[in-house]
Amino acid sequence: MQLIIRSKTTEAEDIVSLELAAPDGSALPAFTAGAHIDLSLGKGLVRSYSLVNDPAERHRYVVAVNRDPASRGGSRHVHEALRAGQALEVSAPRNHFPLVEDAPHVVLIAGGIGITPLLCMIRRLNALGRAWTLHYSARTRAKAAYLGVLRELAEPCGRLDFHVVDECGGRLPDLAALVGASPAGAHLYCCGPVPMLHAFEEAASLRPPGTVHVEYFSAQQDAALAGGFEVVLARSGRSLRIQPGASILDALLADGLDVGHACKEGVCGACQTRVLEGTPDHRDSYLSPREKSAGDAIMLCCSGCTSEKLVLDL
Ligand SMILES: Cc1cc2nc3c(=O)[nH]c(=O)nc-3n(C[C@H](O)[C@H](O)[C@H](O)COP(=O)(O)OP(=O)(O)OC[C@H]3O[C@@H](n4cnc5c(N)ncnc54)[C@H](O)[C@@H]3O)c2cc1C
Ligand code: FES
Repeated sequence: MQLIIRSKTTEAEDIVSLELAAPDGSALPAFTAGAHIDLSLGKGLVRSYSLVNDPAERHRYVVAVNRDPASRGGSRHVHEALRAGQALEVSAPRNHFPLVEDAPHVVLIAGGIGITPLLCMIRRLNALGRAWTLHYSARTRAKAAYLGVLRELAEPCGRLDFHVVDECGGRLPDLAALVGASPAGAHLYCCGPVPMLHAFEEAASLRPPGTVHVEYFSAQQDAALAGGFEVVLARSGRSLRIQPGASILDALLADGLDVGHACKEGVCGACQTRVLEGTPDHRDSYLSPREKSAGDAIMLCCSGCTSEKLVLDL
């Protein structure tokens, strides 16, 4: 979709939001809490951003973008080049971090920009009249986006526990204690930096399956780039040798195939492809452990293959 940037707003230090709408104001595809959209940010860069506005809204999408100091272009482009009034190519929303709407308790844990999908969940929980607790930590108070909004949203049925790392002598939130204090049967959601998510997953490893939910914004593992195997495209019968240093996605794109992709680091889900034969070497943060062990899907941008041949449904 080509959408128009209706406004660009500073939400905190190094965080800006973009409000996007159809040029003619028509309704946009619906989304559910926890969903993200992909923005095309020039020079072939596509980056995913979680929707922060109320899922009941159909007239706009709102995303908030943190400036990554090591950016190769995506967040830097949003901060430096994009202006209100410009057009932007945007994907339809996708959701790999859905909210379980009938959970008896909901505990949300956000670190920094990881607040974005959780803010959307909070709006939905308020609309449903369901109780929630948010543990929100930021490096500094100036970097905490949406604090005022969250305080207002907490009034009807929420509880906000805000932790500022540099005001606590650099102490990070105690995730084991937060998880341990969560009511039995609660669904737990966490989004933030990779080390925080790892600590959360470890702390929550004994909670009932299906009640622990995480969203990674960036890769956890290096891509499998050893190459040395053959990829067969079942629909066309074509076959390619994957060379060392290249991902399967790189090889397919170099061969002229138009394969959907966005993050290129195994987090957004855009390049998921069905495996018909062969053993994937999974390196993504997108498929669940169960999906990985089933072996019938692969993320082409970062995963490799431990068998001689991989047959794909392409
Ligand atoms: C589902 C989902 C939702 C997301 N939601 C949000 C959101 O709401 N808000 C938000 O701000 N972000 C969000 N992100 C992250 C966002 O998509 C981008 O990854 C982020 O903006 C960084 O992009 P970039 O192009 O600026 O940085 P990149 O250039 O992609 O760099 C990101 C990191 O990669 C590393 N890196 C840099 N150069 C290299 C290199 N040459 N080789 C290998 N690694 C390198 C650095 O550590 C850097 O910090 C989300 C991601 C996903 C998957
Ligand atoms: S392109 Fe995002 S998971 Fe592969």
